[in-house]
Amino acid sequence: MAFIQMEVQDHVAVLTIDRPKALNALNSEVLSELEQAVDGLDLENVRVLVITGSGEKSFVAGADIGEMSTLTKAEGEAFGKKGNDIFRKIETLPIPVIAAVNGFALGGGNELAMSCDIRICSENAVFGQPETGLGITPGFGGTQRLARLVSPGYAKQLLYSAKNIKAPEALRIGLVNAVYPAEELMPAALKLAAAIAANAPIAVRACKQAVNQGLEQPMDEAIVLEEKRFGDCFETADQAEGMRAFLAKEKHAPYQNR
Ligand code: CAA
Repeated sequence: MAFIQMEVQDHVAVLTIDRPKALNALNSEVLSELEQAVDGLDLENVRVLVITGSGEKSFVAGADIGEMSTLTKAEGEAFGKKGNDIFRKIETLPIPVIAAVNGFALGGGNELAMSCDIRICSENAVFGQPETGLGITPGFGGTQRLARLVSPGYAKQLLYSAKNIKAPEALRIGLVNAVYPAEELMPAALKLAAAIAANAPIAVRACKQAVNQGLEQPMDEAIVLEEKRFGDCFETADQAEGMRAFLAKEKHAPYQNR
């Protein structure tokens, strides 16, 4: 692939968006490759996906403004659907996804980060939805995920003002979980990924499904969803081993995803 690099080690996949000339902006080709890369993940082996951008300046500086500049209404809607479909695929991947935001996360870049389960960033990261300043709305889920992740009032401020925020403010409003010096970002992402990958994959995936699907349901239905995912974990080899080891006061054997 021309714009996506993927490396897998110790059950953790690192996907790097690599289009440095445009600060990793998402054109149709990058989006298609992103989808191909996500579709190609071996979910038997890979337990966590980390998404980052190449270089030290930018995670993703948005959807490609050059490509969008001449779109018709219908083409604009189709471009939005293309991004939305891929980002929804990332959001609903069975495994956890960590965004390691290493610089600008603007427009489609912030939207990509918000499609991930967890966001951590470097001290030089900048977040925002600059679209209204360009004459458009966010098109890859920004109006929906931002309002769900931070308060609706703060989301509207970011959307209407098109003003960017820096890493400490992103931390304050809960858009990111932690901020690191640039050189510590990937080690921190990989450490977190390794901690997740060491836990029972069936249980971790069940947590993701329960949280994501449960958030869309009234509580009475959401807790039933949890009961089902909880039940799914029983009679698995990993549950048997995890509980056996606890009761025997031993370290459990590496989990097998079975
Ligand atoms: N699309 C296309 N090209 C982009 C881009 C984008 N979103 N962001 C940056 N680039 C290109 C620039 O055009 C420039 O290319 P050239 O060298 O060929 O001129 C190159 O990347 C480097 O950018 P700058 O020279 O502008 O770098 P800078 O350090 O001065 O500024 C920046 C960095 C503040 C991120 C600035 O590039 C910028 O504001 N980029 C656009 C950010 C933006 O508005 N993103 C939202 C896009 S709309 C969207 O994403 C819609 C959606 O929801 C689907």
